[in-house]
Amino acid sequence: MAISDPRPAPGTRDWHEELVCPRCRGPLRTAAGLRCESCDVTYPIDGQVPRFVPWDNYGESFGYQWNQHRLTQLDSVTGVPISRERLVRQSGWSLAELRGSSVLECGSGAGRFTEVLCETGAVVTSVDISSAVQANAASNGRFPNLRLIQASIYDLPLRAESFDHLVCLGVIQHTPDVERAFKTMFRYLRPGGRFCVDVYAAVVAYPHLRQLLRPVTKRIPPHRLYRLVQRTVPSLLPISDALGSVPVAGQWLMRLVPVANHRHLGLPDDATRLTWSILDTFDWLAPRHEKPQPRRRLARWADDLGLSEVSIERHRGLYVIRGVK
Ligand SMILES: C[S@@+](CC[C@H](N)C(=O)[O-])C[C@H]1O[C@@H](n2cnc3c(N)ncnc32)[C@H](O)[C@@H]1O
Repeated sequence: MAISDPRPAPGTRDWHEELVCPRCRGPLRTAAGLRCESCDVTYPIDGQVPRFVPWDNYGESFGYQWNQHRLTQLDSVTGVPISRERLVRQSGWSLAELRGSSVLECGSGAGRFTEVLCETGAVVTSVDISSAVQANAASNGRFPNLRLIQASIYDLPLRAESFDHLVCLGVIQHTPDVERAFKTMFRYLRPGGRFCVDVYAAVVAYPHLRQLLRPVTKRIPPHRLYRLVQRTVPSLLPISDALGSVPVAGQWLMRLVPVANHRHLGLPDDATRLTWSILDTFDWLAPRHEKPQPRRRLARWADDLGLSEVSIERHRGLYVIRGVK
């Protein structure tokens, strides 16, 4: 299938005008932003990125972390295909099958998976509620097949059933109503379309010391918490490494130290591993919402939506659900 280039050729419609008003689902026209006449509202376009949420929203800590760490997790920067392999492992898709298809990526952060998706030749629509879209635009704006939008999963400015694939990794546990986030995304997937969504496994399945700290740390302003994490991670990481080396019990003992440890990922050097630890330790402690889910609840939601070919697998601290709408 040919790759469609979403940038307007002269005289053709801008992809921005294919978006719909998230309030009334009516058409938008370009007019110093995107204008909905019936709601009498104009949504701004910052750079190439249309914005449908206020700057000030619950995703503030994510905007902070992804603009601090715009490049940290990109495969093209680490030189290791960690994001590519995770996407393939979790989705069960071959990347070749995505070529020419339309993909909706919900909660794209700095764009580690956006990059992999764009490289397949799919037409990729990536949305995020936070200012992380700026980091993603700076890194992946070079792809002509990327459509980047700042919007919430709960109110997407997209046409119903217009996507062949849905990807949402590392996101829904961070939304205020996880069931609603999960179910809403499926509106945009066409019948027969394939999906891959992951979510933190319920605390009983994956207890961790960070869960005791979060009620305090999520209230600390992002820039202060980030400084604290930057100062403490270099001392905590060796302790976590030492506990992790204990035979058999190591993987449980490591959870007693509130530091993200990526010793299993094969990162190229210690400096890179430290940077990933700082990023992911902040990512554990800062988000306003974190609601891990039990497997049976995911199965029930899939049933409610009438999804087929559903599989739910455990990948470390995550459940990955995939299948067909
Ligand atoms: C942990 S990050 C994961 C980012 C990316 N998927 C990755 O794995 O690197 C979670 C992302 O979800 C976004 N997010 C949270 N709630 C959202 C919502 N309601 N709509 C869209 N994005 C949301 C956050 O802004 C954040 O960038």
